[in-house]
Amino acid sequence: MPASRFLLLSSLPFLVLLSACQTGNLATVATSVCASGQQWQGGTDGSDVMQPGTSCINCHGQGEGPQFLVAGTVYAGQHESDLCGGVSGVKVDILDKDGNIALSATSNSAGNFFISQGHTLPKPYTARITYKGATRDMKTPQYSGDCANCHTKVGASDAPGRIAVP
Ligand code: HEC
Ligand code: HEC
Repeated sequence: MPASRFLLLSSLPFLVLLSACQTGNLATVATSVCASGQQWQGGTDGSDVMQPGTSCINCHGQGEGPQFLVAGTVYAGQHESDLCGGVSGVKVDILDKDGNIALSATSNSAGNFFISQGHTLPKPYTARITYKGATRDMKTPQYSGDCANCHTKVGASDAPGRIAVP
């Protein structure tokens, strides 16, 4: 059909623009695949919703993308797979050794949160997440702001798995 063909062709330049640096590329998938029903399918296209669950700082530290002090993803459950979208609107607080809030971020539509370089990460720090009035604390002091290094699908370095909402 000529009409639909024209539509397809004329939308191509917009698709290219979108994939450059946008909050796109979260595809709808079965909730048996990702509890959120959303999965990142944009590869390394730069976006604030890119590659949820993965070690953001590890990859960005190799010279590409913005440099983050703290970054990670919050999920509904502890054992979600890499690239699954997480939970939005979760407040993530970084606390200093006296328990004062030093830094804060809020998770976006992919569950991703990040704080740029230029701030100072208290060392060691602890963390607290707050969602719908309920909190969950990481009491063990940590030194790395790359949360997903430990909060993997199965958990590494004694972490129980993902950072999961209370
Ligand atoms: C495998 C490597 C890799 C991983 C993992 C990764 N990124 Fe990226 N990121 C990139 C690259 C490469 C760019 C720059 C792409 C560009 O300039 O188009 C980028 C760019 C970005 C940008 C800038 C987008 C813009 O508008 O310019 C943000 C924000 C971002 N990433 C957030 C994250 C977050 C949050 C995570 C973890 C949940 C993450 N990234 C994980 C490779 C990665
Ligand atoms: C070096 C490994 C490591 C890093 C990095 C790390 N964590 Fe943790 N996290 C753990 C361990 C181990 C636990 C379980 C013990 C505890 O709760 O203190 C944990 C537990 C948690 C919990 C509580 C989980 C629960 O089920 O109650 C939250 C919330 C949390 N971490 C958030 C974060 C955030 C946010 C970051 C990044 C700013 C982060 N973590 C970085 C290892 C880590």
